[in-house]
This record gives sequence, structure tokens and C-alpha cells, in this order.
Amino acid sequence: MRGINSESIDLIYLDPPFNSKTNYAAPIGSKAAGAEFKDTWTLSDVDNAWLDLIETKYPALNRVIHAAMTNSDKSYLIYMAARLLEMKRILKDTGSIYLHCDTTMSHYLKLVMDAIFGKQNFRNEIVWCYTGPGSPKMRQFNRKHDTLFWYSNGDIWVFNRDDIRIPHKQLNTNRKGAMVAEALTREERDAYLQRGKVPETWWSKFSPVGRIHNERTGYPTQKPLSLLDRIIKASSNKGDVIFDPFCGCATTLVAADRLQREWIGIDISEKAAELVVERIRADQGLFENIINRTDIPKRTDLGDIPRYNAPKNKTQLYGEQSGYCNGCGTHFEKQHLEVDHIIAENVGGTDHIENLQLLCSHCNRVKGERGQEYLISRMNKD
Ligand SMILES: C[S@@+](CC[C@H](N)C(=O)[O-])C[C@H]1O[C@@H](n2cnc3c(N)ncnc32)[C@H](O)[C@@H]1O
Ligand SMILES: [Zn+2]
Repeated sequence: MRGINSESIDLIYLDPPFNSKTNYAAPIGSKAAGAEFKDTWTLSDVDNAWLDLIETKYPALNRVIHAAMTNSDKSYLIYMAARLLEMKRILKDTGSIYLHCDTTMSHYLKLVMDAIFGKQNFRNEIVWCYTGPGSPKMRQFNRKHDTLFWYSNGDIWVFNRDDIRIPHKQLNTNRKGAMVAEALTREERDAYLQRGKVPETWWSKFSPVGRIHNERTGYPTQKPLSLLDRIIKASSNKGDVIFDPFCGCATTLVAADRLQREWIGIDISEKAAELVVERIRADQGLFENIINRTDIPKRTDLGDIPRYNAPKNKTQLYGEQSGYCNGCGTHFEKQHLEVDHIIAENVGGTDHIENLQLLCSHCNRVKGERGQEYLISRMNKD
């Protein structure tokens, strides 16, 4: 994501690990065999260091993360916050983001979303409900829904209500139906009924993939195409760029491709990348058009900026930091400080002044090629 240009994405859908304390693996013999991902979290020194970094720049977000009750939840929220901040950066002002989660962490994630995208930009909480047999001796209700939070990135957003209308229920269509205003003529009423209505915030028509034979890849946690179809139709237009940073077996990408949107997917699992290529290829047929890359892309929207260690950067940073090393906090003469990256270059950190700092040569040596969070965690320990 750090290699993606700012304000270049129209719609983000993400279905991240849920912090479910499970390790997901695809069944042997399925297309997705070999795909697995860990969904367990422990708080590390590096997490705490990330929190220190967040604290200086995003105090509200820092407070929200501290609301977590366990270290495992805190670690998960730090992981999510670091990524959601980057999503905020690459999303256009007119863009939207849909975060798919479940009751394990939804209550915390909504706070995180409020802190990053702004409470005023919260558009809907969508509940995707499905059914399941449960087990004979259940001592609580059967948990059978997921939650999706939709946030816009500003006060102008896309909502194509005519592309997602559904039929009115018969109940609301008779002469006395509460939904239809009295003042309508018969023709007007018929036209209104025929156009259908904007769906409610609870969606129950989309079966989980386990029951849809022609979609099933065996990928654990695969979502149905119909769910993504509605989201993409509602919140983007043809030619827009759709982005899924946890794309799994490419559900979002296939749905976007069919709706003539451009798309980008990322997944940490190599198996997922293979499935993306396989599934899109099968779908596109002759008109194959996929780029599958494993390097980190370089942003092209920074213009001509000086190399990180340019004297100009050093002078500016020396002023900003008042001559103190950003690691040990000791005061130095300018010639004893070195310009360094906050987010390491090898994970997409740029030469932009926002990502630069001054360190004394000792701190810089300790940090090496790693990110600032490593240096902070080392400092906290010593
Ligand atoms: C819940 S699944 C997404 C399923 C997807 N929506 C689908 O329909 O197939 C979460 C995905 O996140 C991926 N993942 C886990 N940690 C990640 C990370 N740090 N960066 C990118 N992807 C990650 C996993 O490999 C998994 O494919
Ligand atoms: Zn130092």
C-alpha cells in the first residue's frame, strides 16, 4: 500500500483476519489447498513502539486502541490501524471504504474507523445474515451474521441507488400500504413500485459460499460474489479503481472485473495470488489482462523530490527537531546527525520529508535498515 499513490482509489473493500484465535487452512484437495493464515495475536515490543509513533501523530486513534481489554486485542488493533491509515491516504476524497468484520472485534473497529475516517463519514452498518444448523446443546443464540462498516472519505460520495434496487415486498404494495404516500396517482404508484426500493441495511439473500457450488474454491473465509456485486455497484462507477488489501481468492476482484471496474488486490499468501490469477483468467477468457507482481511498487505522485540525505532535508529537519536525535533524544551539533527514514525504504518508505528524521550515528547504526518502530522498541528495552 505504501507504494500506491495518494488519492488514487475509488473504493476499498477489506475482509481482514478477524482476530478469531483460529488458524485457517483450506481442505486438502480443494483448489485452495496450501492456503492458510494465522489469526492469533500477541502484543510485542514492536506493537508498543508503533503505538508510540501513532500517539504523536494521531492522539485520538491512540486513545481508542488503549480501550482494548486484552493485549491480544490491542495488538490486533495496532495492526489494523497501521493499515487503515494507509488506506485513508490512498482513497480519493470521493471514495468509500467497506470494512467487513464480525462480532469478535466490530465494536473496537468502529471506534478505530471513527478515529481515522471521521464519525461524520460513517454511512451504514450493514448486517449480512445467513443461517446455519447450530449445535444441539447451544447455551446462547446462534451467531450468524457479519458486520460491514461503510465510511465515505468526505461529504461527497457515490451511491448508485438505481443500480441496486430490489422489489418492494407485497405487504407494502397494496392500496393502504404505509410505504406509498396517498398523494400518488395510480400510475405514479405503479411506477414507484415497479422501480423497486433501495435495500435495507440488513442483507439476507446472499448465501455463504459453502453452499454455492459453482463459486467454491475451497479458500477458507471466501465471500460470495453477490455480496461484492452489490457493494461495487452501489459505491463505484465503471472504470473506477477498486482495491482489496486482503483479497484472498479474489472475490472482490472477480466482481469488479465483471462490472468493468479496474482493480488491485493484495494478499500475504502466495496461494491467494495463484488463485487470483487462476480465477480471473478463467473469467476473462481471451481478454486476459492481469499484472501479478511481488515487488513493492514505487509511488509516482511525489514529483521530483530530493534524495533522503540531501543537505536541504537535513537543514529543515534540524530545525523541526531542534537539534535532538529522534532516537535517544540527545542534543547534537548538526554535523553529528544523519538523515534517516522513519518507515524503512525496503518496505515502501519514501524519501518524502514526512517520512524522514534525524538520528545520531549510534541510533542510526542500531536501527540499520529497519523501521523506526524497531529502534523505539530497542530503546524501550535498554
Ligand atoms: C478473511 S480472508 C479474505 C477472504 C476474501 N474476502 C475472499 O473472499 O476470498 C483474509 C485474507 O487476509 C490475508 N492476510 C492475512 N494477513 C495479511 C497481511 N498482513 N497482509 C495481507 N493479507 C493478509 C489472508 O491470507 C487471507 O487471504
Ligand atoms: Zn541517538
